[in-house]
Amino acid sequence: MAINLTIDNQPVSVEAGSTVLEAARESGVIIPTLCHMDGVSSPGSCRVCLVEIEGARTLQPACVTEAADGMKVKTNSKQARKARKLSVELMLANHPWDCNACVRNQDCELQSLAQSMGIEEVRFPYAKETNPADKSTPALVRDMDKCILCRRCIGVCQDVQGVGTLAPRSRGFETTVGVGAGDYLEEAICVQCGQCSAVCPVGAIYEQESIDQVWEALDDPEKHVVVQTAPAIRAALGECFDLEPGTRVTGRMVTALRRLGFDKVFDTNFTADLTIIEEGHEFLTRLKKALVDQDQSVKLPMFTSCSPGWINYMEYFYPQLLDNLSSCKSPQQMFGALAKTYYAQQQGVEAKDVVVVSIMPCTAKKYEAGREEMNDSGYQDVDYVLTTRELGRMINQAGIDFVNLPDSEQDSPLGISSGAADIFANTGGVMEAALRTVYEVVTGRPLPMDKLHVTPIHGLEGLKEAVLPLENCLEEWSFLEGVEAKVAVAHGLDNARKVCDMVASGEAEYHFIEIMCCPGGCIGGGGQPRLTTDEVRKARIGAIYTEDEGRPVRKSHENPAVTQIYKDFLGEPLGHKSHELLHTHYRPKGETPAETKG
Ligand code: FES
Repeated sequence: MAINLTIDNQPVSVEAGSTVLEAARESGVIIPTLCHMDGVSSPGSCRVCLVEIEGARTLQPACVTEAADGMKVKTNSKQARKARKLSVELMLANHPWDCNACVRNQDCELQSLAQSMGIEEVRFPYAKETNPADKSTPALVRDMDKCILCRRCIGVCQDVQGVGTLAPRSRGFETTVGVGAGDYLEEAICVQCGQCSAVCPVGAIYEQESIDQVWEALDDPEKHVVVQTAPAIRAALGECFDLEPGTRVTGRMVTALRRLGFDKVFDTNFTADLTIIEEGHEFLTRLKKALVDQDQSVKLPMFTSCSPGWINYMEYFYPQLLDNLSSCKSPQQMFGALAKTYYAQQQGVEAKDVVVVSIMPCTAKKYEAGREEMNDSGYQDVDYVLTTRELGRMINQAGIDFVNLPDSEQDSPLGISSGAADIFANTGGVMEAALRTVYEVVTGRPLPMDKLHVTPIHGLEGLKEAVLPLENCLEEWSFLEGVEAKVAVAHGLDNARKVCDMVASGEAEYHFIEIMCCPGGCIGGGGQPRLTTDEVRKARIGAIYTEDEGRPVRKSHENPAVTQIYKDFLGEPLGHKSHELLHTHYRPKGETPAETKG
């Protein structure tokens, strides 16, 4: 049912149940917000969105006030402007005044609000006790001196990810955002996805930076520094330079990385293709063992394993399902292991002198690179991980005019890839890439170009399903004749929890499940430029599919560099060398506390 009201004397009609904020947006009026974030949280606590409503005794927060029929709202009255300004001034009085030295300088919502409201001095004395920042994890830094208690981080951690690491602690003026029962993030059950850092409006939570270490490696003449870029970076990096979300910047990104001084600019897409070969064969092998050999020890459905936040989540919350996880390392880690073995040998460089830098949309990748399982090359396979945001800062530090850069191409062989690798960037992409290969391997027939997209698993629905009927299979795969492969795709850990519960209870009938830790998949990762709304996610996903569709090679098994590496180095999929370098096994992290299991 529609209701009618006026916003600043302009009539507007909205669905019943809409908030005043939504009605204002509908009528083209922008009311400032801070604690409210669409789809994340709306605690109504910051009072930055106060408006005047005729007949109400006090100003009301637009984000949590329901619009009513006949309501008359003034968003721009003197009283409302003054009250909103006071709310921001009070926040500034509790916030360190070190904007110039803050990692979020020029990218801070509090700073922007203060500017837009014309606040040029802080009238109230700064009275907050100062404490050192928590730098206890490899992925994230928490600087609670800068926290403005908007609670977005709590909303995303509890409701979107369903992890519940962050929660309010104490009451009134003593309130802070706590991490479990301890004082440091490393003591808490945290999957390090960084979604908290992606929604934080100020500099209270951000990635553990590795920019200085990367500069040092680039300046060292003894080191051969190679870089890999995750598929999701090319659809988001432009936002660091004010390009529209969804602008594809692949060529400019490669040129920028070369100008930063990397010896070789490679692509995580190469090992995304390799992942499909290994994971696809692992899936078919599991099916064969289960269907032909009746091997009860084989676990199905098989889960994808490329998202490190998802791996952490499983280790903490569903250790009983770890055998369902593909043994494939993530593409980032496969790349590191090959860069320090295959590539180093080919290049005639000693592995100890090769430095592998990753550009990732994800803070959990920083944690993953340091895991004890990730040194099969004989060294730490990936040395440094930078988020998309850090790469943006590095490009700015180097004075590179990113927007006007010419395009260039990645180096070979570890920079050659297919469109199937591009779509690893978004939810449903790994599964679609796998199905493109599995179908052709099993049937020996090419998948028609107009059938490459598996549309039921596209989009931002939390849980998606598809069925792949296998018919006219090659003799080797005749046991699959008539099998309908059922697949599922989930993104965001609260959706992952629902799928895991179904699998744990035996209710799920799937053969293969893709899980991505972050909402939207890697395009919505915790290390991507802020703010990632659903509109931004859709724009980035659109860019990724366009990238895929423009490729001459769109299936992983047709990547010539992947064929070559099996010939020259790996032997065969799931062979001895592959197991040594490309596969691993994860262990439970400990018992799951009942209160955080969701
Ligand atoms: Fe409405 Fe914070 S944005 S109270």
